[in-house]
This record gives sequence, C-alpha cells and structure tokens, in this order.
Amino acid sequence: MTVQTVIPKRRFRGKPRGRELDPHLLEALRELLGDERQDATLRRRDLLIEHLHALQDNRGHLLLAELRALAAYMNLPMAAVYETATFYAHFDVIHDDQLPPPAVTIRVCDSLTCQLAGAEALKAQLEANVDIEQVRVLRAPCMGRCDTAPVAEVGHYHVPFATQERIASVIEEAHFHPDPVDWQRLNDYRREGGFALLQACREGEVTVEALMEAMQQANLRGLGARVSLPSKSGRSCARRPAPVTALLMPTRASLVPSRIAITWKIRPTSFLKAPWSAPGR
Ligand code: FES
Repeated sequence: MTVQTVIPKRRFRGKPRGRELDPHLLEALRELLGDERQDATLRRRDLLIEHLHALQDNRGHLLLAELRALAAYMNLPMAAVYETATFYAHFDVIHDDQLPPPAVTIRVCDSLTCQLAGAEALKAQLEANVDIEQVRVLRAPCMGRCDTAPVAEVGHYHVPFATQERIASVIEEAHFHPDPVDWQRLNDYRREGGFALLQACREGEVTVEALMEAMQQANLRGLGARVSLPSKSGRSCARRPAPVTALLMPTRASLVPSRIAITWKIRPTSFLKAPWSAPGR
C-alpha cells in the first residue's frame, strides 16, 4: 500500500510560518530509514527514538532541519520530535547558529558512586588535556556500572575504572562501540528454574505466611531492586481469620545475569474489595 507523506500546507498567503521543509533531507531520510510511503509501519510513533538514533549515528549529531524532515516523514508535530531529541543526553541537536560537536565525546559519570571514586578529578584532568577541536568532555548521569566506578563512556564504549590513560588508549584504538553482551535469554532462565516461585505463587502453592516468612528471613535489601520487607500490619492482617487474606502482587522484576530480584508489594485485602464482592460477580 502506498501512503502519502503529509507536507504541511501553507495556511497563509505570502511567507509561510516556521522553517521550510528541505526536500533533499527528506529524500536522504528515506534512503537511510526506508521509504515510509511504501511501508507505513516506518511511521509508527514508537520508532521515533530508533530513527533518531539512526540519524545521530549517521551524522554524529542531529540538525534542526533534519528533525523537521523527520517530523514530516513520521507525520508528527515538530515539537514532539524536538522535545524527544532534546530530552535524551545522547542526542546532539544542533541549531542553525551552532557548530557541530567534535568527533569524539567522552562522558564522565557524575553520580554518587563515581563521584566518590574520583570522577570530578578525572573530568578535570581530561578537560585539561584533550584537544577541544577533536574531543569534548561532558558530565553524564549514572551508567549503571557503579561497581566499576569511576566510569566514563567514549562514544558508546564504556570504560570501567576509568583513568586518563585508559580513555586515551580507547580513543587511540577508535573503539567507540559497545562490546556485545552475552545475556542469558529468558527461555534459558525459565528452563533453569527461573520464575518458579512466581509460578507457584500464582498457582496458590505457596501460602502468604510462608512467603512472608521466607522474605523476612532472606533479609534482602537493595541489590538493584527495592525489596520491602513484609510489614507487621501485613502479617497481622494475613493472620486474621478467613475471608481476609493478603493480596500478593509482583510490582517490578529485574533480570540480571545470575539472579532474579522481584519487588513485592503486599497489601492485605482488608483494604480492598474482595474479588467475589466486585460488581458483576
Ligand atoms: S554512579 Fe557512576 S555508574 Fe553508577
């Protein structure tokens, strides 16, 4: 099916409002991302970030005129495209009066763990020694690698236990892409017994009391997920005679290579309507 790209119509006679769409950029976009007139799925809104990444990787930054072309390509308001592109630190939106950034970007994590491990001094050292024509040094929020602090990112390559020398050798080797990650796939994890407890809970094979007891004894805290210990009120409610029971809801689960951490929210149903009393039942 062929669909038409809607190019904003001129509502006023005389000079149009805003900047004109550059048809050459729209054509270049089609070459890079595919022709949206032939394949309407390329206009799916959830592809906006993907398209922005493709543009950023292609040119090293995003031109305003390119964003305008992308807005027309996806049939989105320019404001939506601009706001998304400027929200994320990894996109460099270059306004018409700005110069493109240098070819290499070093981001130094400035969140707490890295700060404690000397990130501030590292950033100052880098700033004092790089060629600002070629390299720029920026701050960045936590990169999720706090166990290897201080962390820096050169292009998209993360440097653990970063030092000026390590960063210099990464730049020298032009190693700007991330190393592939060998994650355990979900099906493999399940085959090895992952989510067995969750399944057992869903099938009613684990009592609330037993689960609360296990969590209490595990004394889990932190470890990348918020784990709330069962509260005393939850325990006492769970002990009340039927029909008061406790509702157990997994609210968040995070998969890491060696373990699964589940955040549980335990609420006694005495605060909720019992399912059997819901309208229509
Ligand atoms: S604080 Fe730097 S990676 Fe988390």
